[in-house]
Amino acid sequence: MTELSMQYLGMKLSGPIVVASTPLSESLDNIRHMEDAGASAIVLTSLFEEQLALESRALDEDLSRGTNSFAESLNYLPELNDYRMTHEGYLEHLRRAREAVDIPIMASLNGATSGGWVRFAKEMEQAGAQAIELNTYALVTDRSQTSDEIERLLLELVAGVCKAVKVPVAIKLSQSFTSLPNLCARLEEAGACGVVLFNRFYQPDFDIEALEVRPTLHFSTPSELLPRLHWAAILYGHLKGDIGITGGVHSAEDVLKAIMAGGSVAMMVSALHIHGIEHIARVLADLRYWLEKREYPSLAETRGCLSRRSVPDTSPYDRGNYIKTLSSYSLRQTMAAF
Ligand SMILES: Cc1cc2nc3c(=O)[nH]c(=O)nc-3n(C[C@H](O)[C@H](O)[C@H](O)COP(=O)(O)O)c2cc1C
Repeated sequence: MTELSMQYLGMKLSGPIVVASTPLSESLDNIRHMEDAGASAIVLTSLFEEQLALESRALDEDLSRGTNSFAESLNYLPELNDYRMTHEGYLEHLRRAREAVDIPIMASLNGATSGGWVRFAKEMEQAGAQAIELNTYALVTDRSQTSDEIERLLLELVAGVCKAVKVPVAIKLSQSFTSLPNLCARLEEAGACGVVLFNRFYQPDFDIEALEVRPTLHFSTPSELLPRLHWAAILYGHLKGDIGITGGVHSAEDVLKAIMAGGSVAMMVSALHIHGIEHIARVLADLRYWLEKREYPSLAETRGCLSRRSVPDTSPYDRGNYIKTLSSYSLRQTMAAF
């Protein structure tokens, strides 16, 4: 029988499919169901920097009643009630999740600047998190902020979290960095054990009748996997740590592509919201069938086989691909016209 186990963040996982951060894992029944279906680890939903700051300030306000600076300073933040769980509730859920299943449970911290809130990483570790995923989603709208400064802040944040805990920390990154290989190397120097490619960028949509800008959340499609594959394939072999792929993983074929690009795990969320948690079992069965038919003894040995360092012709990963794609398209178009 083909071996599906993979190493990720120093843990031996039973297979390649990890459930990425999703509200589905806020239910213990779902968490048990994910394990039964074959998920090899689960990342819980995030605790947000803004929420933790809000809770701390609410506590300070309780302790020093009579000042009104607290309410004024919170205008720019979502209300505390907008967050799904208090941080105490989160830690309790984490403890229960650990008791409910044998697969690793990772906690998720979500923030953009270093500060006192990173101490919650320690609380997550004490509550039983076997690893921490640090989601560093940030969006720059200030023209005076340079890319150097943004990366410096990110590295400070990562170093702060990694220093606070002993469990491995993976960094969930956004796609838009000028030099991702250089940044990832520096994230490792700051203590990161892995990178997770990539955060989805939830752009608001425009309502042109109401002249309003509205938040949107669409589930992913497999086409979103391509930039993740591209970057994993470039990074593979250049990092000491692991690469997790999240975004567009829906089928066994997607899982294979993620691993062949150089990922250690393929993470799923949208596919589970669309098809149900049982989908994991179907994808694993398809994956096993594919590997056995081609007599691969293990999935791990396919890791990185299509990475940039493994393929004889690297041009599909470089600027050559861009030129070739555009030129071949215009040629086809021209021929179709005759
Ligand atoms: C409803 C929903 C809630 C999510 N919440 C979080 C979150 O709290 N923290 C986080 O890092 N990612 C969160 N994500 C992003 C997912 O973890 C995942 O990275 C993303 O959906 C891409 O994977 P997919 O294509 O399999 O959906 C959320 C996604 C969805 C759909």
